[in-house]
Amino acid sequence: MTTNFLPLASRVQKVAPSLTLAIEARAKQMREQGANVISFSAGEPDFDTPEFIKEKAIESLRKGFTKYTPASGILELRKAISEKLARENSLQYAPEDIVVSCGAKHAIYNVLQVLLEEGDEAVFSSPYWLSYPEMVTLASAKSVIVPTTLESGYRMTPEALEKAITNRTKLLILNSPANPTGAVYSKEELIQFAEICKKKSVFILSDEIYEHLIYDNLKHYSIGALAPGVKDLTITVNGASKSYAMTGWRLGFAACPKPIAKAIGSLQSHSTSNPTSFAQVGFLEAIKNGAPEVKKMRDAFEKRRNFMVELISKIKKIKCFKAQGAFYLFCDISDLKTPSLQFSDRLLDEAKVAVVPGVVFGDDHAIRLSFATSEKNIEEGIHRISDFINRL
Ligand SMILES: Cc1ncc(COP(=O)(O)O)c(C=O)c1O
Repeated sequence: MTTNFLPLASRVQKVAPSLTLAIEARAKQMREQGANVISFSAGEPDFDTPEFIKEKAIESLRKGFTKYTPASGILELRKAISEKLARENSLQYAPEDIVVSCGAKHAIYNVLQVLLEEGDEAVFSSPYWLSYPEMVTLASAKSVIVPTTLESGYRMTPEALEKAITNRTKLLILNSPANPTGAVYSKEELIQFAEICKKKSVFILSDEIYEHLIYDNLKHYSIGALAPGVKDLTITVNGASKSYAMTGWRLGFAACPKPIAKAIGSLQSHSTSNPTSFAQVGFLEAIKNGAPEVKKMRDAFEKRRNFMVELISKIKKIKCFKAQGAFYLFCDISDLKTPSLQFSDRLLDEAKVAVVPGVVFGDDHAIRLSFATSEKNIEEGIHRISDFINRL
């Protein structure tokens, strides 16, 4: 029996499905039908999880570590995260102020659910990671978007931030290094953001998921550590996915002021409960012993970035921002006078190259290319893009 009556909650009706996943699915379908598709659309490292991390998780599974754990994650992992934050980020968090969740995405979702409500505003810059606006909507709040440009290095200025803050602003979402642009904020810029947020009593969600993938000898700074008192307003989010090539394991965390950690713990205990027990053991191993592997992958990404930038710079009609972090190049296609979705669709159909249209990140004059793929693919894919553009 079919029915036209579909009683979906208005909450989910306001949320757009993920276009990036749709593009990947179409590229996959074309490949299955025999097409030689090159994909620059992936949002994950192409490397496999390092073997020793897998081994630890398998060992724990064999030993029967297969039951519920504390909802906020095992204590050993929260202790290791607390030590990592002190060592690498100059942030002092007690293990009970850290909640381990099913990916940084889940950690961010939790933070927004416990902090935002109807009438609240969350500020972030565009181009943005596509889940921020949808998650703000799911928390019944409003996104206030500060546009940035390639010319300004896709970085928001402190003045623009201050202008965007109203008496309804509850939260600033920062993402450095950023997806989709690869922009990285300097220590000085972050200090200015911190001072503004302190002055205006605005919380800061610092999404540091690409922390370790940073190039040109730049240094990553955690905003929570940069000015006295700002840690009390800051939630630092990070995870296993990008640094350790562990996207499928689904592990992330939020380090928070105490009442926020408590609220997230409670929310999580009634929603997902703990992240997968033996996956937590893998993350623990990654945090303790993963640094040399992270360095190897980072070095490979930097080499590929340089290669991709060099090839793209030869294509006259597109301009790309030289990413300082993450593994994406964000390229301006305004000169082609074609909306980004239409361009990406044609590029996939006619040149068999998958890219993500900038419109999903709030910029319809750009495309995102991931360099988390082999140099061979980069060479062939950029060659195809160049030919395609010459034919337009
Ligand atoms: C900016 C940003 N934040 C958070 C995430 C979520 O990462 P995960 O949930 O895999 O830890 C992603 C993944 O693409 C991202 O690009």
